[in-house]
Amino acid sequence: MRHLISIADLTNAEIEEIFALADDAEKLRKEKPARDCIMATLFYEPSTRTRLSFESAMHRLGGGVISCADMRTSSAAKGESLADTAKVVSSYADVLVARHHWDGAVRAMAEHADVPAVNAGDGRHEHPTQTLCDLYTLRKEKGQLKGLTVVVCGDLKNGRTIHSLVYALARFGANVVTLAAAGMELPHYVVERMESEYGYSLSPLVANELSAVVTETDALYLTPKQPHQLALFTQLDRAIQLRLGTIASQLCYDAFYMTRKQKERIKEGAAAGNYPTLGDDFLRATRFKDTVVMHPLPRVDELSPELDRDKRGIYFKQAAYGVPVRMALLKFLFDQAEVGLRQPAAPSSLYRSPESLGPHCINPNCVTVTETASAQRRYEILSGGPGAALILSCVYCDHRFKVQFVGDVQAKRYCAYDISLRATVGEWLAKNELAVFNSIKEAEEAGYEPYKTSGQRVVMTDGEIQAAVTVMSSEILNECQDTDGLLLLGIRTQGSVLAQRIAAELERQNTRKYEVGEIDIYGSDEEIRRISLADPDAGPLNLRDREIVLVDDVIYTGRTIKDALSIIFRAARPRMVRLAVLIDRGHREIPVKPNFVGKHIPSSERERVRVRLRGREPGVKDEALIYSITSPSANASSLRSRKNAGQTQAAEG
Ligand code: NCD
Repeated sequence: MRHLISIADLTNAEIEEIFALADDAEKLRKEKPARDCIMATLFYEPSTRTRLSFESAMHRLGGGVISCADMRTSSAAKGESLADTAKVVSSYADVLVARHHWDGAVRAMAEHADVPAVNAGDGRHEHPTQTLCDLYTLRKEKGQLKGLTVVVCGDLKNGRTIHSLVYALARFGANVVTLAAAGMELPHYVVERMESEYGYSLSPLVANELSAVVTETDALYLTPKQPHQLALFTQLDRAIQLRLGTIASQLCYDAFYMTRKQKERIKEGAAAGNYPTLGDDFLRATRFKDTVVMHPLPRVDELSPELDRDKRGIYFKQAAYGVPVRMALLKFLFDQAEVGLRQPAAPSSLYRSPESLGPHCINPNCVTVTETASAQRRYEILSGGPGAALILSCVYCDHRFKVQFVGDVQAKRYCAYDISLRATVGEWLAKNELAVFNSIKEAEEAGYEPYKTSGQRVVMTDGEIQAAVTVMSSEILNECQDTDGLLLLGIRTQGSVLAQRIAAELERQNTRKYEVGEIDIYGSDEEIRRISLADPDAGPLNLRDREIVLVDDVIYTGRTIKDALSIIFRAARPRMVRLAVLIDRGHREIPVKPNFVGKHIPSSERERVRVRLRGREPGVKDEALIYSITSPSANASSLRSRKNAGQTQAAEG
């Protein structure tokens, strides 16, 4: 039995096989291979095209369709879980087609269904069958997918069709240019997956030529294995700009894929900026004479009405292909069920917490958060090579977050995760003894106590930290060319506290206010947000053409900075980005050089540097500490043997 939840569930060869079946849809219509089958459509969200084209496809294959006109009138309204609905309806039908407003909801249903389940759109996550229609349309129009350059435009953050589409374009070797509305950039986890799984790299694109035809101008270019990696510049180099400009002017755009603003997924008041529209200038520009315009529909006002009469506007054709493509997909799934093929094996590095408490997905719209009864929290473990953080990626919604605290189930002890713990954590994982917590509070609620650390020593005192903030602030003022446009961006959480401290110091030195923002690398939905001048109507934080000082407490491998830079350049092209850190530990995997440093403290991998900053609670003083780690694994086994020897006394105080 095969489900289709993500576009990753199909191989390229299988997609080709489905396209070949779609080419022969007339034959399927005559043969009626689904004569004895029933399809159930479970739509918890509005739909016209997806639902009707699925239903039409099933009828044309000779099958029957059952459906609830509106899931709000189904048992869901009485509080029935997704799991129960899926279980029950799979005894009435041979295939389920479901759409839901939660990310991962259809995967949760598939896990409880006894028949194939198809994702017809889950929250902001994916919409794989729309992607099949999109690829089929593109291939029909352009002959092939490899080497095409597709501009994806509009609400790239909330539009699920975009996410499935960019993965698929990458797999077929197309280039992707992203042209997002302000504050609606492609989510970090999507770009990371493009980079890590499909070998794509990201470059900011000088997009004046695109600005002629759309209202927004910042663009990013995602391309397979090109030498133009995201430049790790702390200062935007003119030469790089020029080189990127040359790439842009040589690009031939094969398609514009427009999307509407996903209003129903956006908090009121947020994302109030301009939304890109494809205007009449596009129609007249000769360099776009062969560029087709696609749209998953429904459209609002993103497209010039002129386009409907232009042969390049192919969105109605794209919608019409929905029927043959979905006929082909259903036939493919029924055939797979017949030969007894199973869903490809899940990745081997899957993590499930042995504790009932444990890591929660950071996406508030993930089904593991909204309906815990139907989904078992599971994560793929991603470790990005030496020195990298330990990252968990949610199986249901693909959001990624950094592991903060780890513990050993046997010893009931926890500590903050650090690269030096990699081997120990690997052992715990292999023995299924690894507990992961999002916070100290969570660890303590699960009955865990901290591991003790040894050789602790203060490397910066309260006075030293305050003095460093003062010096760094005056250096920033001296080097800043445009103090009016200066923006301090702290990396959450310690970096944000420091950024605010620097802003306060700048204000003291220069008697004016400075804007402060925060970057969340593995965290919330909102990667960059304003934390000063809290004005709800201020709209998204503007980074374009600004002088930015990126602030963090400690720099070591440089990876965090790389991630932060990638978020910044994905959002917009600032004039320059400089880097301020309180402590530079000296070792670096990535060539990033901080411009402003509080103190250089060369330290080894086994050591940890912790900065504690006076925050909201009174009485806490600033302090930077260095210590080496007593091996938690040695600690754990000694604890176990003590326990076995009947000692109740904990090993540490
Ligand atoms: C899309 C969807 O529902 O995600 N519509 C569709 O399936 N054709 C896009 C949208 O609603 O904007």
